[in-house]
Parts: sequence; structure tokens; C-alpha cells
Amino acid sequence: MRRNSPIGIFDSGYGGLTILEQIRKRLPQYDYLYFGDNARTPYGTRSFEVVYHYTLQCVEQMFAMGCELVILACNTASAKALRSIQQRDLPHIAPERRVLGVIRPTVEVIGQITKTNHVGLLATPGTVQSDSYRIEIEKYYPSVVLHSEACPMWVPLIENNEHLSEGADYFVKKYLDALLGKDGMIDTVILGCTHYPLLLGKIRKYAPASVRFLSQGEIVAESLADYLVRHPEMEERCSLGASCSYFTTESVDKFSASASIFLREDIKVSHVDLGV
Ligand code: DGL
Repeated sequence: MRRNSPIGIFDSGYGGLTILEQIRKRLPQYDYLYFGDNARTPYGTRSFEVVYHYTLQCVEQMFAMGCELVILACNTASAKALRSIQQRDLPHIAPERRVLGVIRPTVEVIGQITKTNHVGLLATPGTVQSDSYRIEIEKYYPSVVLHSEACPMWVPLIENNEHLSEGADYFVKKYLDALLGKDGMIDTVILGCTHYPLLLGKIRKYAPASVRFLSQGEIVAESLADYLVRHPEMEERCSLGASCSYFTTESVDKFSASASIFLREDIKVSHVDLGV
């Protein structure tokens, strides 16, 4: 088997860059291909059908670009599209390739972290409405109680580089208070959107010190490392150039400018036309 495939990292926009950063820290030896569907972001307020259709289209594009393994580094796409793609589409379009998400790895560690068994979720409206976290948590940790709060303003604040502004404090406090007000025993909160680590400073400012916030980057990176050990047939296909290429459905200039909010390095970006 020739090692000629970059690991694909997909997000509706820039949020997946927080996952990519941690994956590259944990597994620096591989090549990566980041794909942001920035022209159609945000996904978080869109219907199930639309998110599924957009995600599948991007995954097929990433397959065409040589990815054998794609990580949906987006909770909304993981919640609304992953299962259908894995069960319905992959067996027909690419039985040898794999698509993984970010919800299951996050849920797997929850039961080991919470002491009170009362857990909170902050996520996009789409992820909260899908109930995916609750369904997964019930499978792994049936005694864990989950409370969720949708944060529709957080992704726009971040994508518009307003997340460090004073105005952002209002919306950070609003959703946080709403979540923590539901149950005083919550000791662990999942940041269930890959954009949210950029708000962590402000989130901590308004939360009691006893509450722990879980960003997904390190969790997903560890889970991918474990997956590659358990699946040598996939690991053997991953190329070892320690590089990362970036693709966007938006304009290259726009992506480069905004990606600098997430990354602290200059990157070379290419445009992809999905023909839609
Ligand atoms: N980064 C995506 C997530 O993790 C949300 C962004 C969007 O709404 O498109 O859910």
C-alpha cells in the first residue's frame, strides 16, 4: 500500500482549524488537507437535509482530492450528516474510505471527567436540536444528566472577529447563565462547537471556577491517534510529509485573512469550486 493520502479535516468554516491545530501537535508527521465550506457557512442554523447535502458534497470533493480518511471537525455536520454518510453513502461511493466525527470521541471522555454526573452542552442550534449528544451520552453513560443551550450568536461573533470585543461579553454571559441556571450541579461543560475555544477566555470570566470546560481539539486528536493504531490498514495509506494544504469554497483572500484569527502562521490557500 502506498502512503499517498493526506488526512482530510472538514468544517463549515474556520472552526475546524482549532481541531486541526491540536491534531497536528499530536500527529505532526502526517499530511493534512483542510477544507472549509466558507461560502455556505454557517451550517449551525440550517436544516438537517441541507447540512447533510452540503457535507456529503464536500466529503466527495475531499475524496476526489485524495483523502482516504476525513474527519468532520464540525459538530453540526457530525450531528446531522455523519451517520447517513457512514451508513448510507460510503458503502456505495467509497467502501474503503472512512469519515469520522467529533461527537463520539467527546462523549467517550465525559463520564471520566464529571464528578457530579451533571453535564452541560453549549453548541449551535443545529447540534442542540439534533439531540446527538444526548443520544450518545445515554449509550455510554446512562446516569449522566445533560443540559443544553444553543448559542446562535457565538459563531457569527467569531467569524466576524468580534469575539474579543466588549460587546461579545453580553452574549457570552447570556448563554452561559442560561445553561448554568438550569442545574446548579453542572461541573463539566462541553464546548460542542469547534469555534468556541476562541471564546474560552471570556467564558471562564463569567463561570464559577468549579466548572470545567471541555474543548474538543485535544480529545479528537487523541482519538484519531488511537484510531490509527487500531486501523493499520488506514494508517498505512496516510502520507508522511508533515504538511498542510488549505482549501475553501470562498475567496482565497477572505479565507487567509480570517484564518489568521485561528492560526498564527501564514498559509497558502486554494479555492475550490463545487459548481453550485
Ligand atoms: N464549527 C461548527 C460546529 O462545530 C459550527 C459552525 C457553523 O455553524 O457552521 O458546529
